[in-house]
Amino acid sequence: MGERELRRPAGRVLRITSLTNPIVKEVRGLALAKNRRASGRFLAEGLKLVTDAVDSGWPVRTLIHTGTVADEDRVAALAATTRARGGDIVIVNQAVLAKITRRDNPQTVVGVFDQRLLPLKEISPTGGAVWVALERVRDPGNLGTIIRTIDAVGANGVILVGETVDPFSIEAVRATMGSIFHVPLARAPAEDFAAWMSRWPGATVGTHLAATSDYRQAAYRDPVLLVMGPEQAGLSPTLAAACNTLVKIPMAGRADSLNLAVATGVMLFEIRRKNLAIDG
Ligand SMILES: C[S@@+](CC[C@H](N)C(=O)[O-])C[C@H]1O[C@@H](n2cnc3c(N)ncnc32)[C@H](O)[C@@H]1O
Repeated sequence: MGERELRRPAGRVLRITSLTNPIVKEVRGLALAKNRRASGRFLAEGLKLVTDAVDSGWPVRTLIHTGTVADEDRVAALAATTRARGGDIVIVNQAVLAKITRRDNPQTVVGVFDQRLLPLKEISPTGGAVWVALERVRDPGNLGTIIRTIDAVGANGVILVGETVDPFSIEAVRATMGSIFHVPLARAPAEDFAAWMSRWPGATVGTHLAATSDYRQAAYRDPVLLVMGPEQAGLSPTLAAACNTLVKIPMAGRADSLNLAVATGVMLFEIRRKNLAIDG
């Protein structure tokens, strides 16, 4: 923690029972993409997840909890750290928390965090690196699952290409199971990404149903940039042409494709198996 952060005034402690309180409305509003865009913030739910985030260097801007939780010591420690770093503590009742999280059985702890997105120029394709580019991914569950898989396999991060679903939506964050705090995210328009990708020093591997190479036969020259297509249309001709290898995962039955997150998982474990053992 930096000196300036140490000197930040301690956050406030507020008790709120009204469903119409402006802070409740503001935090609840983070369920909408336009409010997340305007504020640059997002919500994450659950004591373990919020604690992990803080331990990984993500300060909580507002910590909301019900006061009467099973794990009081851990919540008290989390609240103390949050306040010391200038975040506010908001103690609410179950009804308010249900309203904020739009769930009948909400988690007892919710944190508000600042979003983090890297520009492409900050990605360095060093030895052993594996980055995943997702073109126009639409489904928050797929995106969250992919972020979680990237974390599990020890890959470096994800690049969102073109118009994609918001990685900071409640659904996407839930599906990451906390990996949103451990996996760097970048975002770029398709043209910028294609130009940047042309300078990638290792393999740029696109996955395509019309590819003739089996993904198990490909050489994944280190560092690897794996490029996945959108759920509906598949990889665009522009990005397919920009990849130096296109591969297909053979399928035995009558399914015409794999789910995007499943295909990404299969590819990542194959790339890791070939290039670097995973020590669990
Ligand atoms: C649901 S699929 C898209 C299906 C789409 N109708 C198409 O024609 O590509 C989403 C993405 O997952 C990847 N994918 C899914 N199944 C695959 C397979 N068997 N081989 C290679 N990539 C696959 C590709 O990147 C694809 O763009």
